[in-house]
Amino acid sequence: MAPDEIVGLLDLAETYVDLNRGADKKASVLRGRTQINLFFEPSTRTQMSFELAGKRLGADVLNMAVASSSTKKGETLIDTAMTLNAMHPDVLIVRHHDSGAVKLLSEKVNCSVINAGDGTHEHPTQALLDALTIRRTKGKIGGLLVAICGDVLHSRVARSNIHLLNSLGARVRLIAPPTLLPSAADRLGVEIFTDMKKGLIGCDIVMMLRLQTERMQGSFVPSIREYFHFFGLDRQKLALAKPDAFIMHPGPMNRGVEIDSEVADDIDRSLIRQQVEMGVAVRMACLDVLSRNLPEAGRNAP
Ligand code: NCD
Repeated sequence: MAPDEIVGLLDLAETYVDLNRGADKKASVLRGRTQINLFFEPSTRTQMSFELAGKRLGADVLNMAVASSSTKKGETLIDTAMTLNAMHPDVLIVRHHDSGAVKLLSEKVNCSVINAGDGTHEHPTQALLDALTIRRTKGKIGGLLVAICGDVLHSRVARSNIHLLNSLGARVRLIAPPTLLPSAADRLGVEIFTDMKKGLIGCDIVMMLRLQTERMQGSFVPSIREYFHFFGLDRQKLALAKPDAFIMHPGPMNRGVEIDSEVADDIDRSLIRQQVEMGVAVRMACLDVLSRNLPEAGRNAP
């Protein structure tokens, strides 16, 4: 996406923040449309917010229960997608454990597809909601120094945020042990630190990542205790960032692993709850923009 398209989307999301805070949360841009959420990986925030977003825009929203579906009987991803496609959904929201799976699926169906996270690759709506949260808190994104800390190697959130923050003019630092940095990290247009105490100095935003053990084969850190000691965010380490620095985390948090409860729950410094709120607004904006490109009634593919 071009920077002006991103800014347009964030501006549109602002209107949905207002709508969501009112008593009547309903709009109608997706009236008559069908949205299917297809999540092959666990999700709380992303799936719930896509469901709320679709419903608030007037769509019929279905959540496919993957665990009790035919995928458990050996049906392939593509066959599942083709089956759903035959029911004429307008939008599929897809999360999958394999990088590239959502793109592959989107080539096989004729409805619109939104990536809700694919493997270690991308999680675009997370980066958009993070950008909206930062912009509302700091009034800007350009020129800010943002530290992304922890398990960068397995994080699609990190990858999408690096692209988006770079294109909006923020400076991005990655802070991680060498074992949790991607091999090509130096080609991502970021500064790299393996010492958190040095990396945090001067940062405006400290974005923490979960240790994504479900994507790890083998051990990437000596012990959780040692990891927390060197890379867990606590009061002492946060004090190295700017005095008005804010903490972010995409969730789910592992308290005592990458973040201490004292800072996670500090309402003056933590934006974690705001991120969840912005998630609904940003996803409504994405669905709204997408609705403008959906085929009109009577002109659907046969
Ligand atoms: C993230 C994800 O699924 O990539 N969570 C989310 O969408 N809020 C991060 C994570 O699982 O750690």
